[in-house]
Amino acid sequence: MKGIVLAGGTGTRLYPLTHAVSKQMLPVYNKPLIYYPLSVLMLGKIRDILIISSPQHVGAFRELLGDGSQLGINIEYAAQAEPNGIAEALLIGADFIGDEPVTLVLGDNIYHGPGFGRLLQAEIQNLDGCVLFGYSVGDPERYGIGEVDANGQLISLQEKPVAPKSDLAITGLYVYDNNVVDVAKNVRPSPRGELEITDVNRVYLEQGRARMVNLGRGFAWLDTGTHDSLLQASQFVQTLEQRQGVRIACLEEISFRMGFIDAAACYELGSQLAKTDYGKYLMEISHHT
Ligand code: DAU
Repeated sequence: MKGIVLAGGTGTRLYPLTHAVSKQMLPVYNKPLIYYPLSVLMLGKIRDILIISSPQHVGAFRELLGDGSQLGINIEYAAQAEPNGIAEALLIGADFIGDEPVTLVLGDNIYHGPGFGRLLQAEIQNLDGCVLFGYSVGDPERYGIGEVDANGQLISLQEKPVAPKSDLAITGLYVYDNNVVDVAKNVRPSPRGELEITDVNRVYLEQGRARMVNLGRGFAWLDTGTHDSLLQASQFVQTLEQRQGVRIACLEEISFRMGFIDAAACYELGSQLAKTDYGKYLMEISHHT
């Protein structure tokens, strides 16, 4: 299974914050936004990852994360010349994907909930077609929306509908079999000129091979699209981290717990940041587990 983090776009809704800095590089409490979606792929045991960003920002991500070897993973990079749509990530990543299935995550989506890694791993194991993750929201017109029947079976998909058929947003995490590259190649630009991921998902739906997992109440899928929601995401992470004394989306910790690196390597990564609480945390957990 390959993984792609799509971290491009113009970020215009967050100007001037994103005038010179990529949106996915903005801080969410104590780490860059991209750590959160990257942690999702790692929790799914995906170790071969492509990060796609705009040409002017790819270099900054490479500087931040390198080739991933320090985390026991492989990270490659590619540029998206223009934000031509989320589905374009599957075309840009076609060679990288090769003949494997792929999980795509949007670089500005934050997921947090108990057992999420195991859930994702199980969905990847049992993949047949595509898996989408739904989440009930109060403002469905802002998202891709899934309509489900009485049995929870997905029956239609709409992208930012004026009159949503349900309040179930399709979140920015998509697990696909290898056919997705061909599916994406055949998608035509939408009226707003983008290769819409919803059009890709609809092909799987029409084939009866789109499964939807409802993330349910109590799960956190956080928005980072506005200044307020970005601040709220920081406050959410701060609250949980301070209350429980744990770290959310701490990539080094996840690598260690997933067995990508050993305790000595985790300790070493911590010791390089020994003056920071982040580094002290890594040194601490590598001793106590
Ligand atoms: O967040 C989930 C939603 O993401 C889904 O419910 C929608 O179905 C999906 O279309 C998408 O909606 P957004 O309005 O959030 O899409 P946006 O254009 O803001 O793009 C999402 C992220 O992907 C954003 O951080 C920028 C990045 N992006 C977007 C496009 C269109 C790219 O890197 N390249 C692109 O071409």
